[in-house]
Amino acid sequence: MKEKIKFNQIIHGDCVKCLRNMPNNCIDLILTDPPYGDNVAYGWNNKKIKNNKNPLINCLALAEFYRVLKKNSSVYLFTNWKHYPFLTEFILRYTKFKIRHLVVWKKHNFGLGWAFRHQYELILVLEKGKPKYHLTNFSDVQNATHINHNKENHPHEKPVDLLKKMIEHSSKEGDIVLDPFCGSGSVCIACQEMKRKWIGIELDEKWVGVAGRRIIIQ
Ligand SMILES: C[S@@+](CC[C@H](N)C(=O)[O-])C[C@H]1O[C@@H](n2cnc3c(N)ncnc32)[C@H](O)[C@@H]1O
Repeated sequence: MKEKIKFNQIIHGDCVKCLRNMPNNCIDLILTDPPYGDNVAYGWNNKKIKNNKNPLINCLALAEFYRVLKKNSSVYLFTNWKHYPFLTEFILRYTKFKIRHLVVWKKHNFGLGWAFRHQYELILVLEKGKPKYHLTNFSDVQNATHINHNKENHPHEKPVDLLKKMIEHSSKEGDIVLDPFCGSGSVCIACQEMKRKWIGIELDEKWVGVAGRRIIIQ
């Protein structure tokens, strides 16, 4: 039996299992940053993230995304250039989502890397039905600061301001936003600031703790 959903909480667990327990058509927006499946270690202290060995975790989750989303709603899915072809192939063949757009997040500074230093990431916009978009000035190139990672923060922490822009574009106050791969809770913080209800899911206990502390400090 599907569970009733509780808002404004981070669930410690595997999002695929949690999503399978959620009712159909209950979420207004999914904004998420799954592991890219490249199995790299990040930053100066070689941090690894869970489930980053292959991109299949995304695909399992995507099948559930469509079911839990309300009709006429969007998904914003962070990805990178290596993972993008695999992901779009899967979406087009095996889900009912329409791929609406590809947004580039251009960082103010470049980060780690060799020969070609990383300065952008990609955000796929998927649609179930015909969602409304609220902003008239939403560019498909979004400029936002690159987070300077220290020992404490998540190696993939995303800028809250960038997330807020997507939340504003695709939801309204009181709507329910889901981040099934919430890491250190950046989407949850953005939702809190924008008066959206939110649900975060994270597999790694360490990041559940960090997210909890970041949200309380808010
Ligand atoms: C790219 S990070 C997200 C970082 C986040 N955007 C932030 O600002 O902190 C992806 C997260 O998904 C988590 N993860 C991996 N597999 C998962 C699963 N099956 N269910 C829930 N979380 C998962 C990882 O532990 C990792 O923290």
